[in-house]
Amino acid sequence: MATNENDGQCALVTGASGGLGEALARVLAANKFNLVLLARRRDKLQDLANELSAAHGVRTTIAPADLGEPGAAQAVFQAVNDAGTQVDLLVNNAGLLVEGQFNALDLDKQLQLLQVNIVAMTAMTHLFLAPMLARKRGRILNVASVASFMPVPNLAVYAASKAYVRSFSDALSQELGGSGVTVTTLCPGVTATDMVKGTELGKMPSMMIMDAKTVAEEGYRACMAGKPVHVAGLANELAVQWIKYQPSWLVRAVGGLLNQGREK
Ligand SMILES: NC(=O)c1ccc[n+]([C@@H]2O[C@H](COP(=O)([O-])OP(=O)(O)OC[C@H]3O[C@@H](n4cnc5c(N)ncnc54)[C@H](OP(=O)(O)O)[C@@H]3O)[C@@H](O)[C@H]2O)c1
Repeated sequence: MATNENDGQCALVTGASGGLGEALARVLAANKFNLVLLARRRDKLQDLANELSAAHGVRTTIAPADLGEPGAAQAVFQAVNDAGTQVDLLVNNAGLLVEGQFNALDLDKQLQLLQVNIVAMTAMTHLFLAPMLARKRGRILNVASVASFMPVPNLAVYAASKAYVRSFSDALSQELGGSGVTVTTLCPGVTATDMVKGTELGKMPSMMIMDAKTVAEEGYRACMAGKPVHVAGLANELAVQWIKYQPSWLVRAVGGLLNQGREK
């Protein structure tokens, strides 16, 4: 029987119950990774776990958890260890977005966003990195956004949270040079998932919206290549290059034109 270099390796994917996380789990399973699937919706995780083990012959377990709860990352790490599972590849994908004017949006929702997008992502990275370093082998894929490259009016907290993800992950990838552990930041542009349904972002021309499968495949390849940062799609890469060479007043203004979201 043919073997695959990833046979027996295990990936933990946060936010695997839908959207990009589900697409990443599908790509990883197709490449023979065993999986730990994490999100809040247990039924969605279980259905996906059953489907992927039947289709690809990989071992799948679910880890239902709310990363908005302080201490959730520590509880997940403990449970994964107690189960004797070694995580070789960590995907920090879970995230949420709130759209609208900062002052009009509910404060608790925005603090919840920071807890999931920043605090839990940082804690998961810290916890799962230690055993990877001890083994001198591992991969981390953190999902940021094209929004990490610019301030986005009406997505102020979301874009700032993604700037954190990118800056943190980029610095870490340098710190870990030569350690055997790589960190890759995936920066998708607008992607057709539940996150953007009904938002101003979701109303962009369809040619500017990527599908989750393509983004996931690009992210997987970048991660396996140990690439520090990957912007998904050529159009998004060109947009990022454009942003880098413009004055900040112009970038702010364009961000405001692109997203004139109101509170939902
Ligand atoms: N879609 C885009 O246009 C786009 C663009 C750039 C970057 N991104 C980033 O891509 C990542 C995935 O987003 P998506 O578009 O796939 O969004 P999505 O379809 O809304 O999926 C979000 C995932 O995160 C999970 N999640 C949300 N809150 C959670 C919590 N408190 N605890 C645990 N899991 C939680 C959700 O599962 P449960 O609800 O079951 O918990 C779901 O699986 C995010 O980090 C997002 O910022 C998306």
